[in-house]
Amino acid sequence: MYVVIGAGGFLGSYLIKNLTEKTDEEILAASRDVKNAVEGRIRWVHCDVLNDTSLHSLTQRINRERKRKIIWLPAFFNTCKAYDRYVAWNTNITAYAKFIGMLEGFEVFYSISTDMVFSKDSDIPYREDAAVSPLNDYARHKLAEEAMAAAAGIHIVRLPVMMGRSLSPYKKHFFDEIIENNRRGLGMKFFMDSWRSIIDFNTAAEALLELMESREASAYRIVNIAGDEALSKYDAALRIAKKYDLDTSRILPVSMKDDTEIWKERRPGKILLDNTLVKKLLHRAELKFSLCE
Ligand SMILES: NC(=O)c1ccc[n+]([C@@H]2O[C@H](COP(=O)([O-])OP(=O)(O)OC[C@H]3O[C@@H](n4cnc5c(N)ncnc54)[C@H](OP(=O)(O)O)[C@@H]3O)[C@@H](O)[C@H]2O)c1
Repeated sequence: MYVVIGAGGFLGSYLIKNLTEKTDEEILAASRDVKNAVEGRIRWVHCDVLNDTSLHSLTQRINRERKRKIIWLPAFFNTCKAYDRYVAWNTNITAYAKFIGMLEGFEVFYSISTDMVFSKDSDIPYREDAAVSPLNDYARHKLAEEAMAAAAGIHIVRLPVMMGRSLSPYKKHFFDEIIENNRRGLGMKFFMDSWRSIIDFNTAAEALLELMESREASAYRIVNIAGDEALSKYDAALRIAKKYDLDTSRILPVSMKDDTEIWKERRPGKILLDNTLVKKLLHRAELKFSLCE
């Protein structure tokens, strides 16, 4: 049985879609919001990982299954404000530690980390064994998660910026905002001089599920899933505009040095993830930011 915790999120929804379409596995999907969930083959269970009773009851439910293939997605991104720091710490670190402590073994278990564990500009893509230099608290929390995962025999995938249409009618992604704003005649600014190995949610979800089924992949504690190209958000937005027949003149390039609105803290120009290992493991010649739905 596949267990996806955080199944209502962007990546979570694409994992559920791929599991439903491409496998006949049983699926247990945990989310904070299950009131609109469509059951079918998927069994949805409510879980707020910050609530001990809720987390305990989810873990008991999982422990009753024999073959557990687990994906842990819960994360809190905004680590800036004082109150948020408390929620972030407990979502990103405490809940994960408690969950692992209560879990009675698993067949395979993957957690998600980020390219933000690197902060030094580099033209050379970062391999899985490169020295880390976390950008902010969110990245420091992800490194704590990576350390707990290593201690518990859990695998990690590191992901770059992901983009794609939200599969939830209740939650919009930045990708959806680009399309909607453009159709409403609004211009949007995008960095043209900050590059990442951007990938789409669907390709990332597909690759993660293939890794989980790969015996060869189990030998690697950390694997990067990332696109082949160094793309700026401006490059990505232009591709989206062309794909959806939008007005490309409303996709406005901005340089990081001129920006005072988009990011409050300084961000590195080029942070790329080396995807050689994942392509070798999945026998793929390329891994691209795809706009196919
Ligand atoms: N998006 C990116 O570019 C990116 C890049 C690198 C790594 N990642 C990692 O990928 C994973 C998935 O992120 P995403 O992009 O899919 O964003 P997302 O939709 O915001 O996913 C975060 C998930 O965490 C869940 N969550 C947060 N607090 C929770 C709580 N107290 N109890 C239960 N669930 C909780 C959310 O559930 P709700 O739906 O109930 O809010 C959501 O499913 C995260 O671990 C993130 O750090 C994302």
